[in-house]
Amino acid sequence: MDFQLQSLSLAQATKARVPALLVLVADGVPSGDDALSALLARAIGEGDLKTDAGKLLSAYGATGIAARRLVLAGIGDGAPAQVRKAVTAAVGALKNASLDALTVCFAQAPAPLAVGAAVRAAAESAYVYTTTKGPSAGDQAAPRLSRITLAVPGLTAEAKAEFDQAVGTAQGIRMAREWANRPANHATPRQLAEAAKALAKLPRIDCQVLGPKEVAKLGMGAFLAVAQGSEQELRFIELRYNGGAKGEAPVVLVGKGITFDTGGISLKPAPEMDEMKFDMSGAASVLGVFRALAELRPRLNVVGLVPACENMPDGRAVKPGDVVTSLSGQTIEILNTDAEGRLVLCDALTYAARFKPRALIDIATLTGACVIALGGVRSGLFASDDALATALQAAGEQAQDLCWRLPLDDDYAEGLKTNFADVANVAGRPAGAVTAAKFLQRFVGDLPWAHLDIAGTAWKGGTAKGATGRPVGLLVQYLLAQAGAEPAAPASARGRKPAGGKGKRRA
Ligand code: BES
Ligand code: MN
Ligand code: ZN
Repeated sequence: MDFQLQSLSLAQATKARVPALLVLVADGVPSGDDALSALLARAIGEGDLKTDAGKLLSAYGATGIAARRLVLAGIGDGAPAQVRKAVTAAVGALKNASLDALTVCFAQAPAPLAVGAAVRAAAESAYVYTTTKGPSAGDQAAPRLSRITLAVPGLTAEAKAEFDQAVGTAQGIRMAREWANRPANHATPRQLAEAAKALAKLPRIDCQVLGPKEVAKLGMGAFLAVAQGSEQELRFIELRYNGGAKGEAPVVLVGKGITFDTGGISLKPAPEMDEMKFDMSGAASVLGVFRALAELRPRLNVVGLVPACENMPDGRAVKPGDVVTSLSGQTIEILNTDAEGRLVLCDALTYAARFKPRALIDIATLTGACVIALGGVRSGLFASDDALATALQAAGEQAQDLCWRLPLDDDYAEGLKTNFADVANVAGRPAGAVTAAKFLQRFVGDLPWAHLDIAGTAWKGGTAKGATGRPVGLLVQYLLAQAGAEPAAPASARGRKPAGGKGKRRA
């Protein structure tokens, strides 16, 4: 998606010869003497346009207005959440309308955060998954919405900065959705590693990939145990974004990369098992964050780690009761092979210590229990460090990618005790999201650590089935807040314009 930003009054928008114009109208009536202001005043006056967020009124070939199609959308008080709701509804209604370009204009000068919200909502709502659709699918030839111009009256530098941040973030969210959506036979551990290597072509990003031999040599016995039932070779992906000073402690992100979770020998039931292709959404979010970092160039160092493999039943598969030795040296009794996420993560968390991180954050579709606890509204947040928890919560609020903190009392770890190893990989059913987090906590030592359980938020089921790209928005917001205000120097090879301006941005 190409995004452009323009300073444009409502009077100017009236004259814009564009295929479609979406006008965002906050409470109150705009007072200009142009045709658009007059139309808005009349529609509001006669009660045909409500300014409640998400209410739409469409017109075609309106007199005195140059745009062919016109959609008026209420944004309530203009708060980012309302703008998001309105733009999602309007772009959703327009995206199948054989349209390649859309101008979104604010009737009244918006708050800077509302500009970012509009960009992100437009990008998210315009995204269409096509990768595994055949070439003969009916609507392939129809034009796709590919250019969105944001028109803002009284454009400020702050609004420009929000625009740039949103466009960069939207690119990351898009990448995360795309990889999470791909079926397991199109997103194997090998293919995820190739996607990570492709990211390393961007400035300041390096990537290194380990295979089964190297992982065995390191001693990642828990990760190997999960992968051993699959014909697909495991991959351990290590990404680095070098935006800070050399040697400066990085933030380390660890993403669960189970490319398909059958449950293994503790086999899952058939209904909805296809959705376990999304069990690498944590990994996809790490890829997406790096995509956004390349675009936004914050001044900090970030490491991304992804243990990627399938969890399959097989003659060679790990069995309930098997005991394996993790990279940390702790032995683990695998009582349930379906609790595989914590097994691949624990070795990656141990590995992460070598970077001496300033913060260590894992992202995982870890437990069905978290879906029961929080549904699809908020991700589960666990943290050993209050400052880190507060920063992540705040980032979630700002990015409208919410999370909710859950407890880590040591009493929750009681059920993980076993007579046959240092720890078992499951406890009972109560507080399943917490006991999973307690298992992970054994492998992070004293590092400031947080765990995001995105089992409920990473994808939607039912007819809207598809990846959401969460929590890329939250993570990018957090990382930008950790970095200095100024972006790192632009890569000369790309000749990128400085942040802001009227430059074109792709997302
Ligand atoms: N990937 C699943 C968690 C999951 C389940 C996410 C449903 C989203 C929807 C994970 O590997 C898993 O199977 N967890 C088990 C743990 C249990 C065996 C302790 C679960 O939640 O049932
Ligand atoms: Mn599982
Ligand atoms: Zn899983």
